[in-house]
Parts: sequence; structure tokens; C-alpha cells
Amino acid sequence: MEAGQNFKRHRRLRSSAAMRSLVRENHLRMDDFIYPIFIVEGENKKNEVPSMPGVFQISLDHIKKEMEDLLSLGIKAVMVFGVPDEKDEQGSGAFIETGIVQEATRLIKKEVPEMLVVADTCLCEYTSHGHCGVIHNHDVDNDESLKLLAKTAVSQADAGADIIAPSNMMDGFVAVIRQALDEAGYTNIPIMSYAVKYASAFYGPFRDAADSTPQFGDRKTYQMDPSNRMEALREAESDVEEGADFLIVKPAMSYLDIVRDVKNNFKAPVVAYNVSGEYSMVKAAAQNGWINEKELVLEKLTAMKRAGADLIISYFAKDVARWLNE
Ligand code: PBG
Repeated sequence: MEAGQNFKRHRRLRSSAAMRSLVRENHLRMDDFIYPIFIVEGENKKNEVPSMPGVFQISLDHIKKEMEDLLSLGIKAVMVFGVPDEKDEQGSGAFIETGIVQEATRLIKKEVPEMLVVADTCLCEYTSHGHCGVIHNHDVDNDESLKLLAKTAVSQADAGADIIAPSNMMDGFVAVIRQALDEAGYTNIPIMSYAVKYASAFYGPFRDAADSTPQFGDRKTYQMDPSNRMEALREAESDVEEGADFLIVKPAMSYLDIVRDVKNNFKAPVVAYNVSGEYSMVKAAAQNGWINEKELVLEKLTAMKRAGADLIISYFAKDVARWLNE
């Protein structure tokens, strides 16, 4: 028997760079990225987050330049996190008119209006106890927290946010926020729900960046158990019913099966959140010379697209823009 008569030659389509690019199924493009930013109070601050090399907390006076740099890289959407000086039991910094996210949003929309602002709608950066809602009997009270979340969303919309992204994992948050936005006249503002958010050790470096580590206990009564798959579909289903326009799966790297499940079961755009720990691990390994950072990052972000992500929230967005432009 001659070789090739009764088996397939898959290598034909891998024979050259041109051939490979002709048959490539998934691509990264800057249109699909959302870049997270951390805004601190005060002036002339640009503090590198120790566990996240290349990620900075910046003060308001740095925003204009930062947005212009991002736009010139092709990044057209930012997710805004606030790091306030003052915290209290209720997390009132999240919903006051002069809150740090509200100030940052107003400034971005005034100076660089083309930039899409996705406001993170949560309380953990603003509460003295670091939990994502109001505490009663040592746990987060769902329905009391919803009221504050709705206020936060409306105040962010008042400031000009283009998309509201609630992340605190209270039951009913999409329903309550949709209703509050509609009543305030913001029927056109979409909700990008953290539909599927696991209680993950991968958030560690973020909690340094946003100063949001819980002061007691953990988030396991509201964020999901990493062991569960059907629960992710139940969470996503209720968010869709309640009016979510985008569905976030978070973290991304260890949850690509869930990204695919959500993509296959719902019609809304799926967003993979490539979280802080996923970033820090790669940066640390790269600094040690243990991996090829560029190849590894492009591979893992492309894997998110292959898994079904339409959009990717990533601290690597700037690096990716530079690599894709090379
Ligand atoms: C706020 C929030 C968190 C992240 C995004 N929004 C932290 C948490 O839930 O503890 C994590 C993002 C990251 O790790 O990059 N609730």
C-alpha cells in the first residue's frame, strides 16, 4: 500500500505561514478588548500594583493622557474601578455623585468621549468590611444590598457611563438595576452582567489593586463554587430573563468549558474576564524568563475566543495591541 491512500494528510493545511493563516479559525482583534483601569483619589498618582507589573492605579489628572494612549493603541473600551480614600459600612462612596468612578466617568466622557466607559457596579471597594454588600448577621444581606446597587448603577449612568457592569453576585441584581435604570430614563444603557462569577483564588492581585479584600470570611455565600457547571447555566439563565445584554464569565482561563456552555446556550454576547491572577502568573513567569510571554498570552487569549468568548476583559490589552501592531 502506498502511504497516503488510506489516511488523511492534515499537515497539508499547515505547510506554510500563508497556508496556516488562510485556514485560521479564530483571531484576536482590538475591537474585542475591554481594558480595566483603577482610579485613586489625590493628584499626580501613578502607583504600580506590586503584584501586577505594568498595571497602575492612577489619579484623575492622569486620565486624559491614559485614554488618549489607549485609543491610539486601538483600545476603545475601559472598565472603571474606583479606589476611594474613605470607606464606610454601606459603601456609600459607590453611589455618591462625587464618587471616584462617577468623577472618572464624567472626565473620560468630557475629554475623550469616543472611549466607552463600562462602570463596575459593586460595593466591595467602598465598604469598610470589604464585602460586596450590606452586612447583617455576619453575611451579606441580598435585598438590602440590591437597593444600594441600583443607586450605584443610576449614579454611574448619571455620570455618563455607557455600560453598567454589576459584579456583586446578589440574586436579582440585573432585574433591580434594569428597573432602576429604566425608571431614571436610561432605557438605552446596556447591562453587562457578571452572570457567572466563581469564588476564585485568581482574584488575589485585584484585591491589592482595588483594596477590596474582605476583612472577615470570604465571598462563598455569593460567588459560585468552582466545582459547579449546571449552576453557571442557572445563573446565566436568570440574568438573561432579567434583561442582561452581555454575559460575563469570570475567571476565564480555568473556566473555558463554562465560556463554551454559556455561548452554546444563550444568544447574548459572551465576555471572558481574564482576571488579575491569570495576569500576574504570566508576568511573574515572564520576568523569570521561564516562558515566552508574547506567544503564551496570544495563545491563551485566542483560546478564550475559540471557547466562545465574543469579548475579552484583560489587563494584557495594551500588550496585545503592541504585539498585533508589530
Ligand atoms: C468586585 C470585583 C472583583 C473583581 C472584579 N470585580 C473582585 C472580587 O470579586 O473579589 C476581580 C477582577 C480580577 O481579579 O481581575 N467584586
